[in-house]
Amino acid sequence: MLNMASHLTSASLATLLAAGMATVLFASAAHGVGTQGAPKHLHFYMHDSSTGPKPTTVLIANGTGQPLKGSGGSARFGDTMVMDDRLTEGPTPASRVVGRAQGFYVTASQGDPAVLLTMNVLLADGPYNGSSLAVMGRNNVMMPERELAVVGGTGVFRMATGYVLWKTASWRGGSAVLELDAFVYVSPAAAGA
Ligand SMILES: *[C@@H]1O[C@H](CO)[C@@H](O)[C@H](O)[C@H]1NC(C)=O
Ligand SMILES: *[C@@H]1O[C@H](CO)[C@@H](O)[C@H](O)[C@H]1NC(C)=O
Repeated sequence: MLNMASHLTSASLATLLAAGMATVLFASAAHGVGTQGAPKHLHFYMHDSSTGPKPTTVLIANGTGQPLKGSGGSARFGDTMVMDDRLTEGPTPASRVVGRAQGFYVTASQGDPAVLLTMNVLLADGPYNGSSLAVMGRNNVMMPERELAVVGGTGVFRMATGYVLWKTASWRGGSAVLELDAFVYVSPAAAGA
């Protein structure tokens, strides 16, 4: 997602998206997955970078629409990026890896630097290792906090619903670290399956 940011010049969209999903604090994991009404809270950071020899976000289509506000003409309505970002427990790149965020985003707003984002959050650590969340929503990279929807999942998160609160922890050039807090509800029917 960071790549969008670089595409948007200094305040690139990519960075906003990149905030670091890494810190998967599966705080209530020991007590099972959200079957008793309370959502499970996952916290992690996501590392998104459009630069360097191995970018985690790449531009796959240049939009042909109007330039986005604040992009200096470098980002356009219709720009499309694909990402495969590392998720870590803490905000630093060396922090423990807890999963990956794989998906894509497209500038789907004529004016605001807002993207339609859809991604699979693949968890690779702790009690949710091997399970995934399906996330989608509107992400205006310039807002202090964005909310996206958890629209499903696999494994212990089968039939999950919920939401993700999304913040930009840091953003420099084409690299961003994003901080994500996911609140996930799993249906008792699915958990008992
Ligand atoms: C997008 O446009 C830039 C600037 O013209 C160009 O360098 C780049 O190759 C294009 N990328 C794609 C995927 O078309
Ligand atoms: C997660 O699961 C995979 C596949 O079963 C396994 O290879 C890996 O060691 C597990 N990782 C952790 C941190 O438990």
